[in-house]
Amino acid sequence: MASAKQKNAGKAYEIVDHYHDVVVVGAGGAGLRATLGMAEQGFSTACVTKVFPTRSHTVAAQGGIAASLKNMGDDHWHWHLYDTVKGSDWLGDVDAMEYLAREAPAALYELEHYGVPFSRTEEGKIYQRPFGGHMMNFGEGPPVQRTCAAADRTGHAILHTLYGQSLRHNAEFYIEYFAIDMMMSSDGQCTGIIAWNLDDGTIHRFNAKMVVMATGGYGRSFFSATSAHTCTGDGNGMVSRAGLPLQDMEFVQFHPTGIFGAGCLITEGARGEGGYLVNSEGERFMERYAPNAKDLASRDVVSRCMTMEIREGRGVGKNKDHIYLHLDHLDPAVLNERLPGISESAKIFAGVDLTREPIPVLPTVHYNMGGIPTNYWGEALNPIKSSPNRIVPGLMAVGEAGCASVHGANRLGSNSLIDLVVFGRAAAIRAGQVIDREAPIPSPNEAASEKIMDRFDKLRYADGGTPTAELRLKMQKTMQEDAAVFRDAESLKSGCKRMQENWNQMTDLKVTDRSMIWNSDLVETLELENLMACAITTVVGAEARKESRGAHAREDYKDGKFSGRDDKNWRKHTLAWVDAKGKVKLDYRPVNTKPQLSVADGGIDPKKIAPKARVY
Ligand code: FUM
Repeated sequence: MASAKQKNAGKAYEIVDHYHDVVVVGAGGAGLRATLGMAEQGFSTACVTKVFPTRSHTVAAQGGIAASLKNMGDDHWHWHLYDTVKGSDWLGDVDAMEYLAREAPAALYELEHYGVPFSRTEEGKIYQRPFGGHMMNFGEGPPVQRTCAAADRTGHAILHTLYGQSLRHNAEFYIEYFAIDMMMSSDGQCTGIIAWNLDDGTIHRFNAKMVVMATGGYGRSFFSATSAHTCTGDGNGMVSRAGLPLQDMEFVQFHPTGIFGAGCLITEGARGEGGYLVNSEGERFMERYAPNAKDLASRDVVSRCMTMEIREGRGVGKNKDHIYLHLDHLDPAVLNERLPGISESAKIFAGVDLTREPIPVLPTVHYNMGGIPTNYWGEALNPIKSSPNRIVPGLMAVGEAGCASVHGANRLGSNSLIDLVVFGRAAAIRAGQVIDREAPIPSPNEAASEKIMDRFDKLRYADGGTPTAELRLKMQKTMQEDAAVFRDAESLKSGCKRMQENWNQMTDLKVTDRSMIWNSDLVETLELENLMACAITTVVGAEARKESRGAHAREDYKDGKFSGRDDKNWRKHTLAWVDAKGKVKLDYRPVNTKPQLSVADGGIDPKKIAPKARVY
């Protein structure tokens, strides 16, 4: 990649300095909840976001947010914790999962009081629906109604409310600013970020006592994803370029019901309201695989069952390559009230009137369980053997960008929205404890800034032979083909090799537009570098993990239908560092298996969450 400008090109950029106690990067549910919590405490808080806050991907979250409110039947946070542990296939950290389940009701009522317009029961309570993997009585069943919903536009409702509340508390928003990289001091502290104002082309340096990465997932490293095109793992990319590890990247969730072809989400709430899947023989096949939970088994299980039905020749359609989701037996009034959004999506993206016809669906990449390792306060970790919980001063990560690890190897539906608000809130609580209000804000880090702007400039003037869109497509196809719902040694080895070739090809990138104002060519190139770091750590981590667990289903490690889990050797988190040449170094850290509260203090009996076979 030839650069028109040469050495020290980074110096040539004029930089506008800003000083804040806290800089939050990203304005989805987690970013806004953190921003609000920081601003409420009087911290001078900047939220830097590449899209307008209410266009962040949380806006697309449909079905709901889990909390054991008991509005529509019995429930308990212990049951929620049990379901989350089992859903994670025993890879999640128990302290974080306990914090999530225990704090969920309080965080949810806070949302209600902030003004989120939840759907209501006849008595005026928050409406709750069943969702996959959420059961009564420590998994015994039946499905519990735990998922609080605002029709099927829950993320939309939450995002608008949190944005309004953040403005009310005087958080400062830097909208359509693309975060390029973090500044790290020589002693390993994060002291801020540098961002590019897409609208006027200026470069901004945000110096801060605390940076909170809330940049979402990296679904767009795959060809077909429910994620927005903006879900490009920007925080993960920045963290890995800073020499810090990513955790558990091999665990990528496929949502069972992406619209066939388009990939748009049809909420699991559809099955929560009574929808079911059928194969070409008209069979409700989930009854065979998961006799207890049926269509409401956890997502990894349902996605695998659908894939098996298709592979065994029972897919629907001309090419027998997808599955039908039926909602046409439900009362149209219920569909209209509870699922208006997907009624519209089915019409627009599948040409289907769901009151009369089934929706063609296929498992589609939906969520990244892995990300920036953190403790349950959101503090980023840089583990070493002697200190697996070592904190990176000045850096936090929340939401899908972070890995607390609350979802382990597989996330339950509706545990994402609650993760965003519980851990966005936790980060703010922790910041209130650890930020020294009297201390000065770190001064601009000139050396780091120059390096960051050098990289930016190199990409801006990249003059090779490979357009960004072409290389992105190659990466997406590699990941889709070699790191899919089912994997094995052969596909993963091929994935590692192809991803390394893709990485190498970044030296041949071609950026056509050199301008600084609304240069989407350069934005997509910066995003591609971030996606590449995510994709390569995903496939290398997956190749190395010699077991099947949660969403990581290896056909060469299976025991019976679903499980080839090896707790003795693999109940541990993967850590992955990637260098400038795309070489990935792996290491592992232990899973936290201990609850925070003792039984005497109201905590769960650890025996209840001990590993066992995972059946639904
Ligand atoms: O199916 C859905 O509505 C998605 C929810 C989630 O991913 O939590």
